[in-house]
Amino acid sequence: MLVVLKKDYEEVSREAARFVAGAVRSKPDIVLGLATGSTPLGLYNELVALHRAGSLDFSRASSFNLDEYLGLADAHPQSFHHFMQENFFSKVNLPRERAHIPDGTITGDYDNYCARYERSIKAAGGIDLQILGIGRNGHIGFNEPTSSLASRTRLKALSRETVEDNRHVFSGESEMPKCAITMGIGTILESRRVLLLASGRSKAAAIAKAIEGPISSSVSASALQMHPDVTFIIDEEAAYSLTQRDYYRHVLEMTQLFTPERLS
Ligand code: PGA
Repeated sequence: MLVVLKKDYEEVSREAARFVAGAVRSKPDIVLGLATGSTPLGLYNELVALHRAGSLDFSRASSFNLDEYLGLADAHPQSFHHFMQENFFSKVNLPRERAHIPDGTITGDYDNYCARYERSIKAAGGIDLQILGIGRNGHIGFNEPTSSLASRTRLKALSRETVEDNRHVFSGESEMPKCAITMGIGTILESRRVLLLASGRSKAAAIAKAIEGPISSSVSASALQMHPDVTFIIDEEAAYSLTQRDYYRHVLEMTQLFTPERLS
């Protein structure tokens, strides 16, 4: 695992955009795995700026989003469909028919729907680069603590902590979804590369457990320790509880020296 330590959120976003832009340029028909939330917002803004400056083309790319709340129409202001449309898809030239997001409006036959989502990822050739945030409870996607490390796309009940973290953006407890459709940890681990972003002290405990803790279903992100090509780009606050920061800096210097392609 590569751990890239940055000063603050702006630096995390810029470095992540450099990484993603490099991946898109080296494989124009890239299949991206996309995330929502406050963390990747800066990354999307940077990618949009690169696209508008004429230096980044998504016309041959495809994407698969990690998750969507169950029960929210695409147009709902808190749906991930809405988030992606507002912050990314409406501003870049990624063809809409190749931008996939789990459908939060389905009302039955969930397993069948989720199996189809998995099949469409495979049919697209698999995810080349999966972008992730991390929850305070260590979740990736909506793989809440105790999710199977082999889990696939499925309907998942949200944890109390996730409901608390997100309730403020809904008009009341009753409007806050209780479930989501999410890619599984097994699905995420099949991506060829993974890029996890984190910023702020509220993520420090989860980041420390994900990178330095034991692999455990109690911390879904710790499963990334089993992935051969993961890069964490995190700021000083999110790195606060890591014990090996000096070593990560040394590893990064050596990577820049000997295998710089690993960083682009
Ligand atoms: P956030 O969410 O980026 O809004 O903090 C991350 C997550 O819950 O995965």
